[in-house]
Amino acid sequence: MSPEESPAQKPKRNFVVAIDGPAGAGKSTIARHLARHYGLLNLETGAMYRAFALKALRSEVPVNDASALERLAAETDIQLESGETENRVLLDSEDVTGQIRNQTVTDAASRVSIHPAVRASMVKRQQEMATKGGVVMEGRDIGTVVFPDAEVKIFLDAAPEVRGMRRYDQTAQKGTPSAPPEEVIRDLRARDERDRNRADSPLRPATDAFLLDSTNLTLDEVLKEAESAVDRFLAKTSTSLQSQG
Ligand code: DC
Repeated sequence: MSPEESPAQKPKRNFVVAIDGPAGAGKSTIARHLARHYGLLNLETGAMYRAFALKALRSEVPVNDASALERLAAETDIQLESGETENRVLLDSEDVTGQIRNQTVTDAASRVSIHPAVRASMVKRQQEMATKGGVVMEGRDIGTVVFPDAEVKIFLDAAPEVRGMRRYDQTAQKGTPSAPPEEVIRDLRARDERDRNRADSPLRPATDAFLLDSTNLTLDEVLKEAESAVDRFLAKTSTSLQSQG
């Protein structure tokens, strides 16, 4: 049985908006907006893989050593706290929010996340997070594996060149030194390759996801489309987001 067909989630959960898509598609911006607009918790699952990658790097566990990573995951605590602008990420109670976005961790996160045992451990924690309140959860496998029965699923995509340039511009705006655009795009393609081709939970749209390609859309247009997807669900069910069980 594929994960998408598996029976209902074990923990009793609340309303879920699942946002999946490749790196640089704008998931975080959309997720943040929807969370604010509908009063939901905004949870970035990529930050969990990043925090775990940081732990592997610090512990000098090779990113290709599946059994050592499995043991490491079992003894690692990762907490995400929904914030106004970004998630606060606690790794074994240490705030590592500012340490997980550099190139070394980005690359390691992409590599540790191919291992099924690492994924299973993260997915379990993610499912538990939706027992506390309604969530907008973003990642690569939220609509296919973590919450195959999510109320709303959005798959956000854009051409690699567009995503790469957006990433480059974001970094430049922050005043942080960045690799040249060609390198950013090349790196993004390499991560896409790994995400889409891994055996366990590859990046792909759920069959019932709303596909939103932002290549030729302004941010405003994308936000409106995403809101419409949630509104369509609400109109269909006439339910309040907070009280969904
Ligand atoms: O979204 P991000 O770039 O912060 O994610 C970091 C890495 O984690 C990315 O290379 C893919 C992986 N990831 C994943 O495999 N599944 C998720 N649900 C979220 C992220």
